[in-house]
This record gives sequence, structure tokens and C-alpha cells, in this order.
Amino acid sequence: MPTEFAPGEAGSLAPHLHLSRSTGEVAARSAADEGAARLALDRLWQRGTAFLGCRYAIMGGAMTWVSERHLVAAISNAGGFGVIACGSMGPDALAAEIAATQALTDRPFGVNLITLHPELAGLIQVCLAARVGHIVLAGGIPPGSAVRAVKDGGAKLIAFTPALVLAKRLVRSGADALVIEGSEAGGHIGPVSLSVLAQEMLPHAREVPVFVAGGLGRGEAILAYLEMGAAGAQLGTRFAAAKESIAHPRFKQAFIRANARDALPSVQLDERFPVIPVRGLVNEGTRRFLVHQAEVIRRFQAGELTRDAAQLEIEHFWAGALRRAVIDGDVETGSVMAGQSVGMVTAEQSTASILDELVGQAVGALVARGRIAARAGPD
Ligand SMILES: Cc1cc2nc3c(=O)[nH]c(=O)nc-3n(C[C@H](O)[C@H](O)[C@H](O)COP(=O)(O)O)c2cc1C
Repeated sequence: MPTEFAPGEAGSLAPHLHLSRSTGEVAARSAADEGAARLALDRLWQRGTAFLGCRYAIMGGAMTWVSERHLVAAISNAGGFGVIACGSMGPDALAAEIAATQALTDRPFGVNLITLHPELAGLIQVCLAARVGHIVLAGGIPPGSAVRAVKDGGAKLIAFTPALVLAKRLVRSGADALVIEGSEAGGHIGPVSLSVLAQEMLPHAREVPVFVAGGLGRGEAILAYLEMGAAGAQLGTRFAAAKESIAHPRFKQAFIRANARDALPSVQLDERFPVIPVRGLVNEGTRRFLVHQAEVIRRFQAGELTRDAAQLEIEHFWAGALRRAVIDGDVETGSVMAGQSVGMVTAEQSTASILDELVGQAVGALVARGRIAARAGPD
């Protein structure tokens, strides 16, 4: 998708002209260029902002324990689109969380439900009763009954897709928007990076708005995906350590200290015992997980555990571990889910300043391109 931004007057910002113009004129020219760039950005993500009903097509990716009323409302109030992470909440807790979020913002926000939740149908009804406009179904292909319930209730359905064929199927079955999430992301991940998913899907999945996620930490990168056809972006890691996030100070400090290379996927020791890949900061917990797997496999081989029991033992290792990290601040043995963009978390910033920064970087990139185009143009 071409960017329709062009500087108002060809060559006006070329260095030789700066010399002969007053500072005021140059400042006015820069302001005009920035205004034009902001308009260009608005056009680029217009499909996303119209779909979400917000100023910037930037979704705060739902993060279990982190994406509760305060962070969600802060993101929506600052012009983005907050999404509550339902996680393992039951219907009553979710209803209370939605009501509390509505008390903090009158802007739109969404709710992310995990398709494997045993009370999925009830949770959808809670969202509909509270007039939540956008429901994100995550953690697997949404069952037909859930898709119908969301649609019949008048909410918009957002689904994740790991491949183009599935994208087409989801759209046929009623998805109103899609998220493609690369393996750079924090939390549960697929095997393919966003840069490849985007090339495979953005040119071909045009029926509904597509939001890109995974590894996004700067506005220039968001801009690049918008130009490839994305309607907007979803970021988690950059918001986890925001001022409004209720995450424990030790969780936030771990994010601020970490580099991209510290956020690694969980390791599976034996293909007979699959481990769902989760990207997070390497710590004592991830090291103990390897020892735990080895011990469970040894007990299985010694006939002390059935295969099913061994698989359960492995899966249970991380039970409650995300809560321990986020809420209790146990960043040593807890699950510190984080994406590779964690290296771009360098301070505890307000949500508004994170959004301003991302938008400013995208606008700056557009302005710079206008200047380059102007310099290259005929004299
Ligand atoms: C701590 C943490 C918890 C997450 N929990 C969920 C979740 O409950 N549901 C979900 O769909 N995605 C979850 N995610 C993924 C985010 O919604 C988002 O898609 C992802 O963080 C985007 O990639 P990024 O981390 O590189 O920005 C989680 C991510 C993190 C970092």
C-alpha cells in the first residue's frame, strides 16, 4: 500500500534552502511536514482505527494478570485499544473486571478469552451483557458455537491465525478481524516470525483488517507493516512495564534490565512429551523446568509413571507461575513471559508516553522519507 505522503513543496527542506530561509519559516515548514505525515499515518491505519473505534490502531495485547482494568483503561484513554485478559477468571470475576474498566474509561476496549476455558460460553455472555464491542478469541481455533454466540450478540470477533488457509477459513466462519502473531512475541507462541507471517498473509488476507503482533517495539516497524497492508498492530511487552501496569516492581525491573536475547522460548526435552512453546525471560524457573522434565522422563522410562501422568506432571510445572511473577514479583522461579521487544523496554513509562513515542517514530519516519524524496526530486 503506497504512502500518500509528499512534502508540501518539493525541495523546501533541502539543506541549501535552509541556509537562505529564516528559522521561523523552516520551523513552519517542519510543522507542515509533520502534519502531513500524521495525516498519512491516519490514512494508513484508517481501517484499523475505524474497526477498533480509537485514535491509534495500536492494541494493547491481552496479558494474563497484567491486562486488567488499570492498564486497559490507560491504553484506551491514551488513544490506543486496551484488551482485558480474562485468563482463568470465571464469569463473575470477568463481569466485575469489565465494570471496573468501564468506570475508568468511556472509550472502547476489548476482552480476550481463551478458547479452552471450560466456561467459554458463559464468559461470552458476560461480555455481551456488558456491551463489550470486541471479543478476542485466543489460544486455538475458536469453536463454531463461540463464533456464532459472539456474532449473534452483536460484538466484533477478533481471532488469531497462524496460516493463510486458516485466515480464509476464520473469515468465512465470521471473524471480523485477524491477528497474526510472530514467534518474537511474549507468551504462547507459534514457530514462525512476524516478518515471514506478514509476507505470507498481508498481501492475500484483505477481506478483514489484519493486526500484526510480535517483537514490535518501535513506530518505524509498525509503519512498515502498515505499508504492507496491516490495519494496525498489537503490542504486549512494551506495555507490561508501563506505569499503569499493576505488575510487581520486580517484574517491571526484570523487563527494564533484559535484552532481546534473554527472552527465549521454553525448551522441550523429549518429543514424546510436548511442551507448549512460551517465550519468557530465562531464569532459575526455566532451568528447573529442564531438570523437572528430565526427572519425569526418567520416571516414565522406569515405569513409575504412565505416559499421560508424565505429560500432566510436565504441564503442571508452570501452574500459577505467571501470577507468581507478575503479582508476587517472584522473577526467579516464576514465569516472566516477555517478547524479544523486551530490549526496547528501558524505563517505566506512562502508557500515554509509550503510545506517543510509537506514533512519533512512525511520523518521524514518514517525515524523513518526504525529505529524502524532496532531495531526490528535480531542482
Ligand atoms: C506476560 C504476557 C502475558 C500474555 N498473556 C496472553 C494471554 O493471556 N492471551 C493472549 O492471547 N496473549 C497473551 N500474551 C500475548 C500478547 O497479547 C501479545 O500478543 C504479545 O505480547 C505481542 O508480542 P510482544 O510481546 O512482542 O509485544 C501475553 C504476553 C505477555 C508478555
